[in-house]
Amino acid sequence: MRIDIVSIFPQYLAPVQLSLVGRAQSDGLIDIEIHDLRDAATDRHRTVDDEPYGGGPGMVMTPEPWGVTLDRLLRPDSLLVVPTPSGRRFDQRTATAWADRRHLVFACGRYEGIDTRVMEYYRPRVDLAEVCIGDYVLAGGEAATLVMVEAVTRLLPGVVGNVQSIVDDSFADGDMESLLEGPVYTRPANWRGMEVPSILLSGDHGSIARWRRDQAWQRTRQMRPDLPPRGGTSSGPVPD
Ligand code: 6GU
Repeated sequence: MRIDIVSIFPQYLAPVQLSLVGRAQSDGLIDIEIHDLRDAATDRHRTVDDEPYGGGPGMVMTPEPWGVTLDRLLRPDSLLVVPTPSGRRFDQRTATAWADRRHLVFACGRYEGIDTRVMEYYRPRVDLAEVCIGDYVLAGGEAATLVMVEAVTRLLPGVVGNVQSIVDDSFADGDMESLLEGPVYTRPANWRGMEVPSILLSGDHGSIARWRRDQAWQRTRQMRPDLPPRGGTSSGPVPD
């Protein structure tokens, strides 16, 4: 997969060189390029914003540098992603769909956003997704782009070593009907007087699987009462 990210703060995207996404790049599984929108500005001050028509607070990103940059980056098979608090919600299902794409282009807006004609121009020309990552407002699309790039990258074949760790994920089905992940433990068996649940030391794999499913079910009910009451292969709490 190829990913292009356009921003006026290219250094903001430096974390894509680290950790899982950084390793996916050095392993040749993805190719990420970061582009400075200001490189397409033509004036001495490399201006990319202007006052909103009709008045109002803040500044709007001008269409010209976006047009120049996106014309250069987009291909017939591209998905153009515009992170915006007024977009559709990005979720695990979205990440799964994007993981099958050949080319993602993230257009990170700042200020009050990008002149709407940019989206209108590209919508009939490429696949376009205006997405938000949650119900809160960020200062720009960069942090959201880091979130989405990581969510997609870890789904690519060969990126996560143990496939089961993806299958077991909260929201792994991509339909929000799976369970949240339950508690995990490692050595020491006693830490500050707190024991690891004895069932995990029992070697009874059937009982351990049932206990984990019940823990996951309880956690889901407690932390996310908005999620469907049952999910995955579990059919609810384990009876006494
Ligand atoms: Cl994608 N962008 C901004 N600016 N704010 C957000 C967001 C995106 N998602 C949630 N809040």
